[in-house]
Amino acid sequence: MKINAKTTLCCVIGNPIEHSLSPTMHNAGYEALDLNFAYLALRVEDIKNAVSGIRSLGIRGVSVTIPHKKSVMAHLDAIDPLAKKIGAVNTIVNTNAGLKGYNTDCEGAIHALEERTSIKGKRAVILGAGGAARAIAFGLKEKGAIVTLANRTRSNAEILAKDVGALCIDISDKESVKESDIIINATSVGMSPLIENTVLEENILTKTHIVMDIVYNPKETKLLTTARKKGCTIVYGYKMLLYQAITQFELFTSKKAPVEVMETALLERLGE
Ligand code: ATR
Repeated sequence: MKINAKTTLCCVIGNPIEHSLSPTMHNAGYEALDLNFAYLALRVEDIKNAVSGIRSLGIRGVSVTIPHKKSVMAHLDAIDPLAKKIGAVNTIVNTNAGLKGYNTDCEGAIHALEERTSIKGKRAVILGAGGAARAIAFGLKEKGAIVTLANRTRSNAEILAKDVGALCIDISDKESVKESDIIINATSVGMSPLIENTVLEENILTKTHIVMDIVYNPKETKLLTTARKKGCTIVYGYKMLLYQAITQFELFTSKKAPVEVMETALLERLGE
């Protein structure tokens, strides 16, 4: 890829940012389609001034990550209705009409799940009540799932359950988890280096379950290894990461994303 005076700039902003996998995926996509685009990771502390920078520098597209997904919203010109409902923006598109915020985490998770299962009418339990759980819960609800939340701190799950229109159970309520069709770990449990940890006891899973983990490092968490051995349908966390980036790529470039190229680049970085 040759950078010149006509190159369109995109970036990811967050803090910390140096471990972000987004530049790898987006730049691989630009290269494959021979687009004169470049994508950088920028560490941002001051979100208000960073958004002014996006405007004044004409940055075309911005991925937004922790800790700015909520705070960035106040500085944008328009927010997509789903992102507004979720209360978080992970994507900014710079158009003639100004800066518009989207949430592609939600779509990423739903796309990853829909590769393996239909969602409408399914009973889905989400373990966790943080930002990721929130995006997934709204997505599942929109698709017609019966959503239940379970979280270490029950009060956090209750707040989210009320916002989404979901049920709330105690994290120790194994029977309710067992009775569900889809089980999603939306906590950070199992993430490297604590790879032996898992949110679920092994004996809860049976082969009828569809099990998704949002943790992508390692690619196959202990939860997913257990689920795979029990014959469950499994959904890798990296797929959510991939598909949220695919939607961003298409918003930024108005081109169909080269999914396989971006997936290969991501998996190479994850050590596959
Ligand atoms: P994110 O935005 O990535 O979802 P977050 O907002 O910090 O991250 O949310 C982390 C989620 O993982 C929360 O639901 C958290 O539970 P609490 O609400 O009780 O804090 C959950 N979580 C983190 N570590 C956990 C652990 N060791 N056991 C169980 N749940 C955990």
